[in-house]
Amino acid sequence: MSLPILGIESSCDETAAAVVRGGRDILSSVVASQDDVHRKYGGVVPELASREHLRRIVPVVREALERAGLNFAGLAAIGVTRGPGLIGSLLVGYTYGQTLAAALGKPLVPVNHLEGHVHAVFLEAQQGINGGAADGGGAGRALPELPAVCLIVSGGHTVLYEVRPANGYVAAPAPAPAEYPAFRCAYTRIGATRDDAAGEAYDKVAKLLALGYPGGPVLDQLAVHGNPAAVAFTPPHTRGNPLDFSFSGIKTAVLRHIRQNPAFEAEIAARQEALRAGARRAAELLPLCAPATLDLVASFQRAVVSDLVHRTIAAAEAREARCVLVSGGVAANSELRAAFARQASARALPVFFPSRALSTDNAAMIAAAAYPRLLVGESAAEGIGAEANLPLA
Ligand code: KG4
Ligand code: ZN
Repeated sequence: MSLPILGIESSCDETAAAVVRGGRDILSSVVASQDDVHRKYGGVVPELASREHLRRIVPVVREALERAGLNFAGLAAIGVTRGPGLIGSLLVGYTYGQTLAAALGKPLVPVNHLEGHVHAVFLEAQQGINGGAADGGGAGRALPELPAVCLIVSGGHTVLYEVRPANGYVAAPAPAPAEYPAFRCAYTRIGATRDDAAGEAYDKVAKLLALGYPGGPVLDQLAVHGNPAAVAFTPPHTRGNPLDFSFSGIKTAVLRHIRQNPAFEAEIAARQEALRAGARRAAELLPLCAPATLDLVASFQRAVVSDLVHRTIAAAEAREARCVLVSGGVAANSELRAAFARQASARALPVFFPSRALSTDNAAMIAAAAYPRLLVGESAAEGIGAEANLPLA
């Protein structure tokens, strides 16, 4: 039973399709990014996103099948993101998946995007422990021990879940099976951002400083050139639930810092010019950044990363978790990975990340999350459609 599943993902600004066999072997994973479309607005424009999904969905699916060496007839099912996300974007992928499944007479398995991010960790777990980021993925690819605390941190989400084993979950089976069993996890939401998602804060700060879009990857690379202790940010305080996040205060503090230091102005104007002329990469922007800018970037990153790490570790301790899972676009951040790895070795608490490619939105994680559901015969009931606010728990 190899059960190749076609995954389709279109919840935000990536049109993605992938074929995953047995819930774990990625035969292909195609991601068409819309960064070029949204760049000049410094954020995702929902109407443009759905139009781009419409334009790209067919070629992206075709390419995923070609790379996997399969045709539609060889698929066992179609797994598609049902929510949460931008409704116009979700509708394109969901309706396409629904129509395809009906035409082929194959099951359609709706997937929660956030459960997809959890499965991204199971698919290609890279363990950050003992200071290194050893690849725990290739060798056995055993499932992490549960209960875990999972941080999903992206441009749209910053949320903490407790993940418990439900049906059929076997941690660390030896030797690892070629195919995963029909396991289930149960989720409890234990914290979330009250305002901006962490990735959104990266994107907004990059916009303020004219460092391009999306902001995360560039700020990540520039931060290593600055002093993270140069600018002090008040750690976010969330009254009530201490596991809730808040990043709008840090973003506002960056804005205030820029306004109080008029020297930033000319430099920002020069970078805006460079962006207009096509500069994208950190290496192109670095020579246009004075030490004060690099210090601000490094300090911003330190403030965000330490807040994410501290609340997640506090959650893991409160819930007596066996490990920590970190997923979503910001999980690609180098300082976040290094900080979690340090905590992991200091506390003997394993921390698992997906590979960087599977941290950001992709369809392999959607196909993987669909697999155990397909095994138990789950498919879309009549009247089930895309849902912008679909909760995981
Ligand atoms: O998961 P994702 O692809 O899409 C959403 O669901 O939002 O995440 C994209 C977000 C963007 O805000 C981007 O700036 C951020 O992830 N990001 C990063 C890094 N790579 C992507 N943030 C910090 N450091 C990175 N290396
Ligand atoms: Zn996502």
